[in-house]
Amino acid sequence: MSKAHVQQVAILDAGAQYGKVIDRRVRELAVESILLPMDTPKSELEIYRAIIISGGPESVYGDKAPKYDSGLFELDVPILGICYGMQLMNYVSTGGTVLKKDTREDGPCVIKINVSSKLFDGLEPEQHVLMTHGDTVDVVAEGFRVIGMSGNLIAAIENPERKLFGVQFHPEVDLTEHGKEVLANFLFKIARLDALYTMDDRQDKAIKYIQDKIGQSHALVLVSGGVDSAVSAALVTKALGKDKVHAIFVDTGFMRQDESQKVKVALENTGLKLTVIDASGTFLHAQTEINGQMSAELTQTTDPEVKRKIIGDTFMRVAEKAVHDLHLQEDNIILVQGSLRPDLIESASTSISKAAQVIKTHHNDTALVRKLREAGKVIEPLADYHKDEVRELGERLGLPDEIVWRQPFPGPGLAIRMLCADQPYITEDFTAINQQLVHLGGTDQSITLLPVRTVGVQGDGRSYSYLAGISGKADWQELERLARLVPKKVHKVNRVVYMFGERVVGPITEITSTHITSETLIQLRQADAIVNEILQQHDLQRSISQVPVILFPVSFGIQGNRSIGIRTIITRDFMTGVPAVPGRDIPVAVLETIVHRILKEVSGISRVVYDLTSKPPGTTEWE
Ligand code: XMP
Repeated sequence: MSKAHVQQVAILDAGAQYGKVIDRRVRELAVESILLPMDTPKSELEIYRAIIISGGPESVYGDKAPKYDSGLFELDVPILGICYGMQLMNYVSTGGTVLKKDTREDGPCVIKINVSSKLFDGLEPEQHVLMTHGDTVDVVAEGFRVIGMSGNLIAAIENPERKLFGVQFHPEVDLTEHGKEVLANFLFKIARLDALYTMDDRQDKAIKYIQDKIGQSHALVLVSGGVDSAVSAALVTKALGKDKVHAIFVDTGFMRQDESQKVKVALENTGLKLTVIDASGTFLHAQTEINGQMSAELTQTTDPEVKRKIIGDTFMRVAEKAVHDLHLQEDNIILVQGSLRPDLIESASTSISKAAQVIKTHHNDTALVRKLREAGKVIEPLADYHKDEVRELGERLGLPDEIVWRQPFPGPGLAIRMLCADQPYITEDFTAINQQLVHLGGTDQSITLLPVRTVGVQGDGRSYSYLAGISGKADWQELERLARLVPKKVHKVNRVVYMFGERVVGPITEITSTHITSETLIQLRQADAIVNEILQQHDLQRSISQVPVILFPVSFGIQGNRSIGIRTIITRDFMTGVPAVPGRDIPVAVLETIVHRILKEVSGISRVVYDLTSKPPGTTEWE
């Protein structure tokens, strides 16, 4: 008989950006999961009903491949290997090989599956899935059979006798249409787990956790107006009572138009004891120490990660002073943060994932916060939750819709929605890349390289590279196709936009030097207000998950001018997503109104562009 007995799944983290999403999906299916390092010993794994091995950035045959217990695949429990996990199970089994092939797949694909496998029970033979890999299973190991193909690449394998199943695609993300069914088949039909892990259960555990951790101390919550910090505050209030919870709202000066006031009113209406601090004057000239050296002032800084660090550290300094001014006893205070699982994994926080590469240093996970955390002075009651679950919890706790359904807004605010640069970004291969793009264009559309870079996520790693612009006929289906094709063919491009207006014949090599100043903030704030006003008028703020508006320095031939990017993203998990397609998810006329009004009402704007990139290969934010 199997030794497995707890109703839990162990997820072995091979360092994937998607590790947390696997965990999210498993929990959504009401099965408790635990995320463990890849090298967890076999003896500790024996108690779980099933194991899932995540994807990861390394190659199974490489020097940096994460270590694992060699007895892992001898455990008598079902194992599902995802991406890296599938490659590993094949590679370590007799006869199996894994190779780097010429084609890498990064994005949505259609695969053919064998529906006689229990893993694919009830599914159609053709499936839309997300692939992000360079390595591929080549020779299938003894005892395994192929149960899925993506063109001529192996997309899924199984060895039912050994209870081993592997998928090259990511069943955990939204872009895999029936991924949830695949996971459910694995959990319920193969591993025979029961769905016992519910929201009620988790809320009770979170409240008990807060009570245990805070005890007789007081809770300090730094609210941003976003759903995460508001839900944290509500949860802590429910756990400790109003009098022991102190909320501070720091206005960085990077909020949207009238936003600080709106947030203040909404939060005070929930009964929170709120202190509002206007620190907008402090942030622009703030500096911070990075690797022992003082950084430049924020207004002189162009690197997005340095911007985040300065803002994050300044935020904490301002908040610390506020605590002091409130005459709260510092040693009697525990900081409550609304960090979610995705925030933590994307910062490669050691407490969550040892192996994930740094994608972005999140505002709420700065060095200072890590230090406080090490001193045991920070709690993160939502660290177990994902965005959509936080909204559900917020509703259960009685928060108003205007907070629960507010679109996420990053802590550093408009400061990271402004691409700053002194010089155009032009590498040695600029002309060659531009030439490749020109060839991908056609009679109706031209494609050109733009001399700026934005952040993306390609493979399991972060990229910071070129933006490409398409101009010409606004045939949205064709534009969608081109936007998928370009990053696949030209790896140094991670983001593709459609440029409204006249067709652009490149190369484009000029920018207007751009920094965070009162002037650029006004430009961005005005454009953002126009976009939001129009989206609200058309009731598009729920169906589209988030709409960053970006100021970027490309001048398009008008010296001193800049441009505006509109980035829409439709997602539930915020780890993957797709842009709203004009004509389907957002009326074309609405977009045209937005473009027209921005050009007319915001001074110094040459062009408006619309981001057509899914995540991956682009991220939600541009930096
Ligand atoms: P990306 O750009 O990585 O964003 O696709 C995923 C989600 O995280 C938000 N985001 C941030 N939130 N501080 C935050 O508090 C940050 O520095 C930050 N960067 C990105 C982003 O708005 C999206 O919801």
